Amino acid sequence: VTIDLQQFEDRKRDHIRYALDQANQASGQSGLESVHLVHEALPDLDFEELSLASVCLGRPAPTPFYIAGMTAGHADAAHLNLMMARACQTRGWAMGVGSQRRELEATSTDKWKELRETAPDVVLVANLGISQLIRTPLAQIERVVAGLRADALAIHLNALQEVMQPEGTPHFKGSLSAVRRICAELSIPVVLKETGCGFSARTLARLREAGFAAVDVSGLGGTHWGRIEGARAAPRSIQAQAAQTYAGWGETTVDSVRAAREALPGMEIWASGGVRSGLDAAKLIALGAQRVGYAKPALEAALAGEVALDAWMAQQEYELKTALFCTGSATPAELARGAHAVIGAGPR
Ligand SMILES: Cc1cc2nc3c(=O)[nH]c(=O)nc-3n(C[C@H](O)[C@H](O)[C@H](O)COP(=O)(O)O)c2cc1C
Repeated sequence: VTIDLQQFEDRKRDHIRYALDQANQASGQSGLESVHLVHEALPDLDFEELSLASVCLGRPAPTPFYIAGMTAGHADAAHLNLMMARACQTRGWAMGVGSQRRELEATSTDKWKELRETAPDVVLVANLGISQLIRTPLAQIERVVAGLRADALAIHLNALQEVMQPEGTPHFKGSLSAVRRICAELSIPVVLKETGCGFSARTLARLREAGFAAVDVSGLGGTHWGRIEGARAAPRSIQAQAAQTYAGWGETTVDSVRAAREALPGMEIWASGGVRSGLDAAKLIALGAQRVGYAKPALEAALAGEVALDAWMAQQEYELKTALFCTGSATPAELARGAHAVIGAGPR
């Protein structure tokens, strides 16, 4: 796989700029507005004793949160990644890195080494796209994950983005067998993740026996890569117009989590895509997700600096704890067990 590095850097810089533009968010489409958590007026709890402790890929974790993988391609990229890694280390969040496609060819892994040293206790998730992995020998993948000393590899699926991206690679033939092969042979667990279009029950049924350790649904409702690539494409180009047609394409985050809960019993479910508050996180946990992630809001907070990032993370934790308290749940696992969510309750 040969890629033009300058083009790659430019594209990543564009992606950040367009991702921050509200027009490229599928706001209001996550399904979260129609999920209601039932209030408990008489919780048998003290707020101080609530715990966010959870499980991540089978290991105990201080919180059920993660920052979802983002490539940060401008000059500040390394700085932003390190800032997020430090914050995750402090607060006990997991963290995905953005696509490491470049590392499949480059030999230097110094920046990943530094990231791991900054966040020794963080569950760090490496990231590569399926359209690259179909043709990549396992040894090359192992080299990328070893550079980061990653705890897991996220294989990202981004069919809509690859189609809409003028220089995209919409080549997915052999993708299911590639997923199976990597899950069977890689030395660390695999997280299968979408990038904002979610998973249908049908896709999940096809994936049931593929062998991954967790699914990150990344559903419709937040950052929308069809819109972003459409915005990047030349005005009035075929992609720009198609992006408008497909502005609402995808399976919502709520539908994806429910489908995953049903299709993959016992599987660890990570939920992202339009999560914008600790209450959103609580709703997804109540629906069966074990872990809840944010991409764009974490990027925005990090761009405002280290203090702002920490405050934003504290806000998510406080809001999730509020949902625990007001549903009478001592932990996220209790929130999940208690049948606290009502769906179709109308906007809240
Ligand atoms: C600037 C930016 C870059 C991203 N780059 C990647 C990437 O390289 N690999 C990946 O799997 N997902 C990538 N994503 C997708 C996120 O991990 C996440 O699935 C998606 O943005 C939905 O979450 P959100 O609505 O909270 O932004 C990126 C998202 C953003 C905002």
